[in-house]
Amino acid sequence: MKNFSILGLGHIGRVHQQAILDAPNAQLISVIDYNLPEDISVKAYNTLESFLTEDQETDVVVIATPNGLHREHAIRCLKGGKNILIEKPLALSFEDAKEILAVAHQKGLRVFSSMQLRFSPVVQYVKNLLENNSLGKVYMINIQCYWNRNRNYYKLRDWHGKDDMDGGVLFTQFSHFIDILNFWFNDVQCTESNSRNFTHNDITEFDDSGIVNFLANEAVGHMVYTTSTFNKNFESSITLIAEKGTVKIGDQYLNQMLYCDVKNVCCSNNISTEQKNFHPNAIEEISDALLRKNPSVLDGHHALNLVKFIVDANAMAKANKELNAIEIQ
Ligand SMILES: NC(=O)c1ccc[n+]([C@@H]2O[C@H](COP(=O)([O-])OP(=O)(O)OC[C@H]3O[C@@H](n4cnc5c(N)ncnc54)[C@H](O)[C@@H]3O)[C@@H](O)[C@H]2O)c1
Repeated sequence: MKNFSILGLGHIGRVHQQAILDAPNAQLISVIDYNLPEDISVKAYNTLESFLTEDQETDVVVIATPNGLHREHAIRCLKGGKNILIEKPLALSFEDAKEILAVAHQKGLRVFSSMQLRFSPVVQYVKNLLENNSLGKVYMINIQCYWNRNRNYYKLRDWHGKDDMDGGVLFTQFSHFIDILNFWFNDVQCTESNSRNFTHNDITEFDDSGIVNFLANEAVGHMVYTTSTFNKNFESSITLIAEKGTVKIGDQYLNQMLYCDVKNVCCSNNISTEQKNFHPNAIEEISDALLRKNPSVLDGHHALNLVKFIVDANAMAKANKELNAIEIQ
């Protein structure tokens, strides 16, 4: 059994609270939030400092505060002797993400990343197809993320929409899709990126839509994303076009096999699942990895390239925009 504490009991902090309850090898012993709700049945702290001074029992702190605070909170927890599970992303810059891992290494502690869609059976099924070469050479990858985030979404939390705290839609909305690429392929690199702001010009400090080209091993990839889709989320999917098969998976939680036609492989729709919340799988995995001292698919170094990919995509999109602005003048 491993003892967990949650830093930041907001929307996703609550999901972790339930996940820790559901996991057979984990228990929640405290929560830390400067704005504590009243219905807390475990020890509660309203500053990280008071927690780090008093706590002697926590094995893992779940960092579920806004993206822009992850670096500071991660490093303080590590220096306080705690293993950490950082909500996505690890940090908003590649340097900050590397610094977190370096401090953990110095302290002999572990950093995990909340990339829970890696536990979707559909995602794992495709990973097996790739690993046993059932798909042969992968030619093309297409990611489509057509979502809606309306004005209320940005008004509800003051960190949403801010460059330094939120970091943009690739970090906050679409990082799981890029993470799955990193889970499936060894070498994923952004090669070109363009972005536009269609419906959030007066409400976010970053663009709401874009097109990213990338390479994943030998395959060429293309990602189209937006939070400007009319009325509600429309589609989330990843398609692989390969030598020996075509596969399309989707739904917001990548839990549905939408199309599967692979040579000599009997693909079944039974792989799809109604499970959408994979946080309990992640908590169980982390407890187990600590108890057995095993490596984990959630080890922080697996989440480094995700940060690099998004930082590169955002920088390329910004540079292209500036170039276009100069050309228009
Ligand atoms: N893995 C996923 O699928 C997923 C889904 C949603 C959000 N997230 C991530 O989870 C994190 C939190 O998102 P959220 O939607 O829960 O945000 P939220 O605003 O609902 O919750 C953040 C909480 O942190 C607390 N907090 C902020 N600063 C603090 C500080 N200095 N000390 C103590 N408490 C502090 C706030 O009071 C709030 O309760 C973000 O990094 C986000 O990207 C991940």
